[in-house]
Amino acid sequence: MGSQPLSKQDTYVLARDFKSASRLNYEHYLWHETIGYDLHPEILATLPSSVDQASIKIADIACGTAIWLRRVAQQLPHAHLDGYDISLAQCPPVQWLPKNVRLREWDLFNEPSEETLGAYDVVHVRLLFVVVRDSDPRPILRNLKRLLRPGGYLQWDELNVSKSFILRAEEGIEAPVMEGKLEFLEKVGKWVAELAKCMEECGFEGSKLWEAPEREDLAKAFFDNHLAKDEEMAEKSLDREMLLEQNRVMCEESRWGVVLCTPKVVYTARKGLEENGVAVV
Ligand SMILES: C[S@@+](CC[C@H](N)C(=O)[O-])C[C@H]1O[C@@H](n2cnc3c(N)ncnc32)[C@H](O)[C@@H]1O
Repeated sequence: MGSQPLSKQDTYVLARDFKSASRLNYEHYLWHETIGYDLHPEILATLPSSVDQASIKIADIACGTAIWLRRVAQQLPHAHLDGYDISLAQCPPVQWLPKNVRLREWDLFNEPSEETLGAYDVVHVRLLFVVVRDSDPRPILRNLKRLLRPGGYLQWDELNVSKSFILRAEEGIEAPVMEGKLEFLEKVGKWVAELAKCMEECGFEGSKLWEAPEREDLAKAFFDNHLAKDEEMAEKSLDREMLLEQNRVMCEESRWGVVLCTPKVVYTARKGLEENGVAVV
C-alpha cells in the first residue's frame, strides 16, 4: 500500500514518508490533549445509542494515516467508519485496522461516487490548510455536504494560522526570525476565521466555532511538530535553502523559551433538512 500511484491531481506540498506519517500521528495526540475529544461531544450526543450503533455512518475525508478513524473506532466499535484520501500511502494495511474501518482513495475536489451521496451521519476533516485552493474552502464544503444525509453533521478541525502568536516563557526574550515568520503567517489563511460564514453560504445550518484554550505545557511540542512540517514543505520549495535555514534558527531561538503558537479551532455545522423549502435528499 505504501507505494500506491498518486493521482495526477495530487499537488500535495507535504511528504508521505515515515517521518510525515509519524508527525501526523503524533499531532493527533497533541490535538486530543488540547481539545479533549476526537468526535465533538455535541455531535456524539446526536448519534443513536450503542444498541443501534451499526446504523451510524461516519466519514473522515483526507484521513492521512487514518488515526482519527482508528481512535473513533475505540469509541464506536460497531459504527461504519470510512476514510478517504487522495493517497492511502500513510495508512496501515487494512488487515491491521479495526474491522469497522474501511479506506478508499478519493480526491475531494472530484465528484463523489453515487454510493457516498447523502450516506453519512457525520463527515469529519482535519488540517486541510495546505489542501484548500485559492484560500477558498467553499468547493470543498460543497462536496462534503453532498456526502451528508439531511440533518447530518460536519466537523472541521483546523489551525487558525493567521491568528498565530509568539509565546515567551519570560518577557523580553528575543526571537527576530520567529517574529519575521509571524508577520508572514498573519497574512495567510484568513479563510479559517471565516469558515462558519462559508459553511452557512454553502447551505449548512447552525455553524459553531469552538476555540480550544492554548495549553502552555504543549506549546513547545506543537512548535517542534510544526517545525517538522515546515521542513517537509521546504524540501519541495524553490526557496529550500532559505526556509531550512529559517527553521534551523527558529529551533535555536526556541531553546531560550520562545515559540510560535497557532490556535486550534473546531467548526461544527449541520446539513439542512430543507433547501428553498424543498426537502433535501
Ligand atoms: C495535513 S494532512 C492531514 C491528515 C489527517 N486529516 C490528520 O489530521 O492527520 C492532509 C491530508 O490531505 C490529503 N490530501 C491532499 N490533497 C487531497 C485531495 N485533493 N483529496 C483528498 N485528500 C487530499 C493528503 O494526502 C493528507 O493525507
